[in-house]
Amino acid sequence: MALLAAIALSSFVFSADPKGALNIASVKVYNVKAQRYPHRKQELAFVNFNVTADLTPLFNWNTKQLFLYLEAEYANAQGVKNEVVIWDRIIRRKEDAIINVVGKNKYNFHDISTTFKNVPPSSYSLKYNVMPYVGVLTYGEAAKTDEPVAFPKVESRV
Ligand SMILES: *[C@@H]1O[C@H](CO)[C@@H](O)[C@H](O)[C@H]1NC(C)=O
Repeated sequence: MALLAAIALSSFVFSADPKGALNIASVKVYNVKAQRYPHRKQELAFVNFNVTADLTPLFNWNTKQLFLYLEAEYANAQGVKNEVVIWDRIIRRKEDAIINVVGKNKYNFHDISTTFKNVPPSSYSLKYNVMPYVGVLTYGEAAKTDEPVAFPKVESRV
């Protein structure tokens, strides 16, 4: 028991603080038919991003895997704070922990109100969970946009 506690503590104490850079290349908003309700429309945001980060410092003998995710944080027009995961990746090996991704959102990005009209700009960040063999899950942030990014006017899809 004492050994386990020491192990958990040591991986906590030596936890690293990796630094990365996140760039939001573009955000577009389209009006689409809601999947389950064909007569209803909803707006979806499409985010293109590129991100670089060296997460190798997070790998030590007690690191089982990393859960890496890109999160949009915004307050909607009603002032409700939202955190939406739009992309993620599991990293199991230190060799795969140097991130250099040009990508777009994997998951549907919509607001519960169905519209991004009057929604203030969103900030975006690259976050991670470290899943250890022994001990507690730790959370961190590897990169964040310098400035919030505005939602553009809705475009109709052709
Ligand atoms: C993202 O791509 C732009 C344009 O190619 C480049 O200038 C920028 O350095 C890249 N940023 C990151 C974090 O990869």
